[in-house]
Amino acid sequence: MPHPILEILPTGASIDDDGTLRIAGCRVDDLAREFGTPAIIVDESALRARAREYRTALTSRRPNARVVFASKAFPATAVQRVMVEEGVGLDVAGGGEILSALRAGVDPALMVVHGNAKTTEELRIAVDAGVGLVVIDNSDDVDRLERLVPADKRQDVLVRVIPEVESSTHPHVQTGQVGSKFGLTAPAAARLIERIQASPRLRMRGVHAHVGSQIMDPSELAAAVAPLAALGTFDVYDLGGGLGARYTYDEHPASVDGYVEALLAAADAHLPAGAEIIIEPGRSMVNGSAVTLYSVTTVKRDARTFVAVDGGMGDNLEVALFEQRYEAALAGRLHDEAVEDVVVVGRHCESGDVLIDPLRLPEVRVDDLLVVAATGAYTHTMANNYNGYRRPPVVFVRDGEARAVIRRETWDDLFARDL
Ligand SMILES: Cc1ncc(COP(=O)(O)O)c(C=O)c1O
Repeated sequence: MPHPILEILPTGASIDDDGTLRIAGCRVDDLAREFGTPAIIVDESALRARAREYRTALTSRRPNARVVFASKAFPATAVQRVMVEEGVGLDVAGGGEILSALRAGVDPALMVVHGNAKTTEELRIAVDAGVGLVVIDNSDDVDRLERLVPADKRQDVLVRVIPEVESSTHPHVQTGQVGSKFGLTAPAAARLIERIQASPRLRMRGVHAHVGSQIMDPSELAAAVAPLAALGTFDVYDLGGGLGARYTYDEHPASVDGYVEALLAAADAHLPAGAEIIIEPGRSMVNGSAVTLYSVTTVKRDARTFVAVDGGMGDNLEVALFEQRYEAALAGRLHDEAVEDVVVVGRHCESGDVLIDPLRLPEVRVDDLLVVAATGAYTHTMANNYNGYRRPPVVFVRDGEARAVIRRETWDDLFARDL
């Protein structure tokens, strides 16, 4: 029986006769030699296929609807470029994401700008670039835009509303519940909408809600539609992102088709016919196309067996942030029988720097390659320099060819800002 990790690896993964993993035709031992470890490896064809799956699922059912990729899930210029090439717009939160989206060649009209604390500088970058939609989170956004938008222009905006939907995801990634720091309650949103409608610099186009992230049941996402409809009739309804991605053998998030059908059924029931629907998937768009390849640096057999790798919370904060579970395997020994329960830990000075606990593996040796599956979302995003860690490269693989789209940081990079 093939190793179960294949179920959650990118679609282009396979196992050689000697038990070594290949991703999109590239052997992982070759990738480790060429690019070093840790490395984030992206199956480019799988990434493109997922973008197309989303676009087709939505536009085949509703031609004037559109998908914008939530760049924060994998804010690499190369990933944004793939999305642009696949006909997907870009949701950007923050000046850097706007600038990288522009470098990726996005049509500014297809950008949606978010943020609960947008600065004047960021809004200036957005307005100067000619972004399609700015999502207003608070009245200060309106004050700033009224100062920034030139007298002969009007900026199209949406207003972010708290839909009062408490989803069954981890509290740290819920955003649509009463008391959320994101968006406005319905009465406050209604007041701000009136102000925007009277503004000579802004054009009120619609409303937005985002319930949270890693949500498995699409009915929880669709539950935001009726509260948005209650705010009035608009041209645009942006229903956010949030669909769960599959990380583990026992997780089964809804399919893209199932998710889109649930949203559009709610839209048909509550929203004006012909309104433009936007969705903003992030995690579920990119997670399954990438893996992280580590080398085992230490195996400590003591009270427990600690398998320490050459990365950790410097390249994956998802475990520490909201206890995300991952699956992993020894990438060069996929035919070996799993015989011991281990704790996979990182190299950082925190007891919380645990990648997987427990994990059943063959008898692990120093220098074994460990592949952690489904690491495309929010890993590169939140990579950091804790303990002088050099952030890993992002490597695209396709048809047996590999190319780094982001190189590993160098020691010099770590001191580039020293004055
Ligand atoms: C406004 C907004 N849209 C979309 C997303 C993407 O969510 P996900 O990555 O869960 O699909 C987020 C994530 O936090 C968000 O804040």
